[in-house]
Amino acid sequence: MPTPQSGIFVEGTRFHHYLEYEVTGDFSASSIGEIIEAAGNAEAVVAFGNDLWRKLSPSAPEALRDFEAIDGGADLKSPATQHDLLLWFHAADHDDVLDAALSAQRVLDGTARLKLDVPGFVYRDSRDLLGFVDGSANPKEDARFEAALVPAGEASAGGAFVMTQKWVHDLPKFEAVSVPDQERIIGRTKPDSIELEGDAMPPDSHVSRTDVKLDGTALKIYRRSAPFGGAGEKGLYFIAFSCDPMRFDVMLQRMFGTWKDELHDQLVHYSSPVSGSYWFAPSQEDLAAAGCTG
Ligand code: HEM
Repeated sequence: MPTPQSGIFVEGTRFHHYLEYEVTGDFSASSIGEIIEAAGNAEAVVAFGNDLWRKLSPSAPEALRDFEAIDGGADLKSPATQHDLLLWFHAADHDDVLDAALSAQRVLDGTARLKLDVPGFVYRDSRDLLGFVDGSANPKEDARFEAALVPAGEASAGGAFVMTQKWVHDLPKFEAVSVPDQERIIGRTKPDSIELEGDAMPPDSHVSRTDVKLDGTALKIYRRSAPFGGAGEKGLYFIAFSCDPMRFDVMLQRMFGTWKDELHDQLVHYSSPVSGSYWFAPSQEDLAAAGCTG
């Protein structure tokens, strides 16, 4: 099996930085190698939009494509802001993450335009800023690789399809809802993240909309999102990895009311995506073959 980018799976780091770029004509693949080397103590994960990865690699996976906007009606809009290059740095130390982001910006200056710049952090015991633990049902151990990576034997094996969305919360609106009702919106209890069961679990909770089985297969993804912001704008930078981008499509349709049951996720009334991109995070071998070395 080709080697996946190790930073995808390193857990426990409390500081994150997500950068999305649009490249210009002068962009060179070798700058990726320089960025990774300059990241120093920070984990560095690199992913490419459809256009750029097809230019760099003849073996880009067929299923890779641009993010498409979804419009399921009022409150049910998910915009597309597809960019070319995604960089995700994370580390135990904030200084290491910031230095990695600043170095990347220096390397890319003049050959790529910074379109999204989101410093993220772990809040308390991995809670989203809505106050709920985020990540409880994430696959663990080897199940993470199964969920996130194109399997051995397939083209682009060891790589991962990636989805990102910057979500902005309306915290006062969510906080005006009673805690039992907040729990029905999410589908888990607030203090201890216990999944609601049986009749207590609404079909339009966030968990009901994203815990999906199709033809007997559980559509698992591996999420590495982090909260961002402060007293003003705040929310979640959602980032997830999957062996098959169809899994993202299905979850998004179920959240935004365009799935066949026409239900939608109650969470979208309290938080809204303002960006949306699909990416591919190639294996180390595919990165090297595309000239993404220093
Ligand atoms: C504002 C945006 C979002 C917030 C605050 C949020 C928060 C949460 C929380 C609190 C949970 C329950 C605990 C857990 O298992 O992690 C959860 C579960 C989950 N979320 Fe989200 N989420 C957001 C967006 C999304 C999006 C856009 C997707 C996919 C397209 C997604 C996919 C999932 C999945 C797959 C689960 C696990 C479901 C299960 O198997 O139980 N989430 N999310």
